Amino acid sequence: MVLSGLRGVGKTVLLNVFAEHARQNDWLVIQLEAQPGEAGKGATRAKLARELEVGARRLRGKPAWAYLKESMASIGNISASLGATGVSASVTTNQGRADSGNLDIDIEELVEDVSLAMRKARAGFGLFIDEMQDLDEELLTVLLSVQHLAGQRGWPFYIVGAGLPNLPGKISEARTYGERLFLYKTIGQLTEEAAAEALALPISRIGASTAPEALSILLSAANGYPYFLQIYGRSAWDEAPDKVIPAEDAQVAVRYGTSDLDHGFFEARWQRATPAERVYLRAMALDGEQPSSTGEIAARLGKSTNKLAVIRQRLITKGVVYAPEYGSIQFTVPGMAGFIERQTEG
Ligand SMILES: Nc1ncnc2c1ncn2[C@@H]1O[C@H](COP(=O)(O)OP(=O)(O)O)[C@@H](O)[C@H]1O
Ligand SMILES: [Mg+2]
Repeated sequence: MVLSGLRGVGKTVLLNVFAEHARQNDWLVIQLEAQPGEAGKGATRAKLARELEVGARRLRGKPAWAYLKESMASIGNISASLGATGVSASVTTNQGRADSGNLDIDIEELVEDVSLAMRKARAGFGLFIDEMQDLDEELLTVLLSVQHLAGQRGWPFYIVGAGLPNLPGKISEARTYGERLFLYKTIGQLTEEAAAEALALPISRIGASTAPEALSILLSAANGYPYFLQIYGRSAWDEAPDKVIPAEDAQVAVRYGTSDLDHGFFEARWQRATPAERVYLRAMALDGEQPSSTGEIAARLGKSTNKLAVIRQRLITKGVVYAPEYGSIQFTVPGMAGFIERQTEG
């Protein structure tokens, strides 16, 4: 399965819930967050090697362990292919599995060994990857091939990924069959009903409530975004002295909540941008929440698209923007355009 959507919609929370379900059913569970760039590539691979070993050892004492023990050699050997030296000295035995030094062959052998062991234990092997759009292309391609093979051979190996809205595109670019490989779910704003429930239910559990008008003030400020509901909800809870939150307190809560967002969620991203990058972001903000055409941005700034490509790429690496499709660019964070406009005014 692949979950995609903007930041703050609840992808990581969902991914963690799925991984926890798998763990409770004694699956071998590997969880990692991909990181961008050359340094990120090394870090992600090292994490994969380490998680494999830790994930397997977590099953010690479980039924799967009897079968999994034999795959520990592959798990140890794969660490070398992943460039994670020294991780696996304790388990490496040279068995001729997952030790060719070719990432594709080794990952395939490892997944085969581990998932067949897990099948004997009537469980599965789950690889949960957050920020999957940042996975390096080589590793992404290898993992897609192995997932494809697993489907054909009936190995209980499942990749569950989460990432920005460009993730499905990245997957089908890497492998044409990628489109059919996953169940794709777009995660976006909650419905009005779900958003209302997210605010009202936890409050009612502790014997308090929001006045109807207060609820609608908070809901319209949050615009269905889970992270914003969290912020405005907390702010309302902190502001209101009584058990029923009135409209006036909700209004104050929206002011404070927005200020919290400006000084945290948004500010963190703004601070990471250099002056030249901020000029680019300001030009984007004119389009509001809509994607901007990179050609149009170049025209606004009186520069060539090529000249701006470096700036654009740096902003993508910093996770502030992403390319929903070729020739267009969009903020990864809902509400970023409004924040930038507030900066211009201030
Ligand atoms: N289903 C939900 N209902 C209400 N709030 C949620 C839900 N899922 C996530 N949140 C809130 O949104 C915040 C951001 O979620 P997160 O999973 O980190 O988003 P993402 O990974 O998409 O950027 C969480 O810390 C939580 O406060
Ligand atoms: Mg996340």
